[in-house]
Amino acid sequence: MAPSLAGREVLLGVSGGVAAYKAASLARGLKKLGADVQVILTGGATRFVQPAQFEALTGRRCYTDTFSDVERIVHVEVARRADVAIFAPATTNLIAKFAAGIADDLVTSTFTCLTVPTVIAPAMHTEMWLHPATQAAVRLLAERGATIVGPGEGELAGGDVGPGRLEDEDVLLEAVLRAAGRADHPLSGRRVVVTAGGTRERLDPVRFLSNRSTGKMGYAIAEAAAAVGATVDLVAAPTALADPPGVTTTHVESALDMHAAVMALAPAADVIVKAAAVSDFRPVAVSDQKLKKDAWTGSGAEGDGVTLELARNPDILADLGRRDDIDAVLVGFAAETTDVESYGRGKLESKGADLIVVNDVSQSDAGFGVDTNRVVILGRDGFRRAVDLASKRAVADVILDLAAERLRG
Ligand code: PMT
Repeated sequence: MAPSLAGREVLLGVSGGVAAYKAASLARGLKKLGADVQVILTGGATRFVQPAQFEALTGRRCYTDTFSDVERIVHVEVARRADVAIFAPATTNLIAKFAAGIADDLVTSTFTCLTVPTVIAPAMHTEMWLHPATQAAVRLLAERGATIVGPGEGELAGGDVGPGRLEDEDVLLEAVLRAAGRADHPLSGRRVVVTAGGTRERLDPVRFLSNRSTGKMGYAIAEAAAAVGATVDLVAAPTALADPPGVTTTHVESALDMHAAVMALAPAADVIVKAAAVSDFRPVAVSDQKLKKDAWTGSGAEGDGVTLELARNPDILADLGRRDDIDAVLVGFAAETTDVESYGRGKLESKGADLIVVNDVSQSDAGFGVDTNRVVILGRDGFRRAVDLASKRAVADVILDLAAERLRG
């Protein structure tokens, strides 16, 4: 079936850049995909394009002023009606105001009322695009969940060449389709908690016990959940990865820290995915100072072994499975090297999870450290789904779709 926006209300905000003339064609493209299109213009945009143009193309009144229909409170009305919004072209000025929360005209006031997936398509001169203030504003908007599309590179007004061109119409339409799809996903607006990375169990200020987890699997799940519009909390054990945009990341070190962070987030969660590799044990004694060789318990003459006393860490997943006040769909992982499915099914049941994602971590292209994974997902009632070698992000998408099918409440 051809992609469609039939029955969807798309808000198109246009600001005052030379590329504003392209917004008329974009409005037409959105109409062709079946959308009901509501156009709003900034004062600057009206220097380049006319409301009548958009009214003819969309069959709708095109608004330009907060004070033209005061009794209808237009900015609130159009924002509430929208299923998805696109701002194209978005000038430096518009982007800076969006980031700062300034609402001093119809378009910026409407933006502050939006709660739906939003696409922002910057278009401006290269110098303006590269200015640190613009870059910081764009980063902030992306972190808050907006999809930034472009700018493209090419010829700009005045004959300059460089980054700053409004992205091509087909790219913008594709972004709107994806954003509209996001609004349709059952996890859109739901709370997802993800754990990632390998916990560290300190012995002293320079030594710890840990494992080979890099956090890639958990981060891919957090990113995939944010991409479908979920509110995502990522609880990350030490990793070299950058915090994913649009996700609230809490950094923890040990299994006990992770236990506390997850338990605090769990009651409000709709889905919890435990991709972290949590140390099952921690040293009983943790030294404030670097331990000297002769301070190790049991150490004697050089060459003797040492005995490290370990205490069992709480099992976070099993504790979640036991708690009555937690309604979230629980997804655990099982890192196995032999009899992977039967050990995985054992963990599914003993830990009270709804789904368990079993990976064979003895394979070189799956499990720890790599960008790909190969998993079998097991559920209650004998559910089984094998996912052959795929990127961790693609595996994440499957996990989230299966979790979404099991949403409660
Ligand atoms: O981070 P990467 O480099 O991308 O690698 C990904 C991965 C191999 C770490 C990931 O795919 C994975 O398998 N994660 C789970 C690793 C693990 O600890 O598995 P486990 O079989 O020991 O634990 C089973 C489940 O119980 C896991 O969901 C784990 O988070 C949870 N658990 C374990 C121990 C504990 N004390 N508390 C827990 O919650």
